[in-house]
Amino acid sequence: MKIKAFAVEEWMNEYEVGAKYNIAETCVDSVSLDELFALCGEDRDAFLSAFCSRRLTYGDIEGAPAFREGICRLYHSLRPEEVITTHGAAGANHHVFYSLVEPGDRVISVMPAYQQLYSIPESYGADLQILRLREENGWLPDLQELQALATPDTRLICINNPNNPTGALMPAPMLREIVEIARSVNAYVLCDEVYRHLTQEDGWSESIVDLYDKGISVSSMSKVFSLAGLRLGWIATHDKALMRSLLSHRDYNHISCGMFDEAIAGIALAHADRLLKRSQDIVRENAAIVAGWVERESHIRWSCPQAGTTALICYDYDLPSYEFCTRMYHESGAFVTPGDCFEQPKSFRLGYACDAQTLREGLCACSRFFRSLEEGR
Ligand SMILES: Cc1ncc(COP(=O)(O)O)c(C=O)c1O
Repeated sequence: MKIKAFAVEEWMNEYEVGAKYNIAETCVDSVSLDELFALCGEDRDAFLSAFCSRRLTYGDIEGAPAFREGICRLYHSLRPEEVITTHGAAGANHHVFYSLVEPGDRVISVMPAYQQLYSIPESYGADLQILRLREENGWLPDLQELQALATPDTRLICINNPNNPTGALMPAPMLREIVEIARSVNAYVLCDEVYRHLTQEDGWSESIVDLYDKGISVSSMSKVFSLAGLRLGWIATHDKALMRSLLSHRDYNHISCGMFDEAIAGIALAHADRLLKRSQDIVRENAAIVAGWVERESHIRWSCPQAGTTALICYDYDLPSYEFCTRMYHESGAFVTPGDCFEQPKSFRLGYACDAQTLREGLCACSRFFRSLEEGR
């Protein structure tokens, strides 16, 4: 099966290890197991010695009960049997397309967004339609355009809320309008919600699964909970027929997720409030640092992110984004992601949820590079 190269992942694979100032990373500053146990106030040694006596079977096929119950607490209307666990959100998104999309099905996906949302359905032979998010609309979708694209053969509408790379957040009324459009053509809505809860304002943003019976929420332990190393994510839906299809397809590619990973995730989600507080403090303090920097720089602009861990910074220097980012990496040590990875030229994605010192130093390095461009060096 042919599929386009995954631009953002290829970029990260090439440059991430060895980056001097990694301000491309999208996870909230990752934690070690020691830090996790300390944050949660749990006894590490008691957990490990209890776990070490367990036989390493396939575990709970559809997901460990404590983990699935913890996931349900992140939603208003979900029961454990409406959730399955996956290998990260990457595995979850892939699994939804694998289980749902037939050649010729219309799939509407927003862009810019995480490339899985458009390149996988395209590779399955779907009739892919792109719903462009535009800077002048604050990177939110134009719902009249969506309405025009949503024909009766639409199987799936794919959105990413909060959005990677822009940090835009669709408010609940907009999500409800999208649901109405989807309902009018009986389509599913897949919402990649890996950055949900990372809002700049207090309060939870809505999940698609709490708003629509054919809504599919994908999320994971990687970004919000700072535990990408667990490689655990999930799919949540109220739709029983879809759940049966997801489970049947899952026998072919997952069987189950790792027992150890799910046990750790269960502990983390039992203390979700503590981890959420840590993550929200980081994204809010760091977004303020970036806002001050953008204000001081005269050749860049942004739509201030409302949620998530990333911002799309547009620049007016006369350089294509791959060349811009590669030169900046080599000449200043600042590692960011080219906008062309998201088909968004003359821009770069900044990941601002790292530790504050790396962020400050990384932004200074970007500024040094900007000065060198302005001086024609
Ligand atoms: C929007 C989005 N979805 C999914 C993923 C994959 O995340 P995971 O680590 O859970 O597989 C990412 C990672 O960058 C992402 O940004």
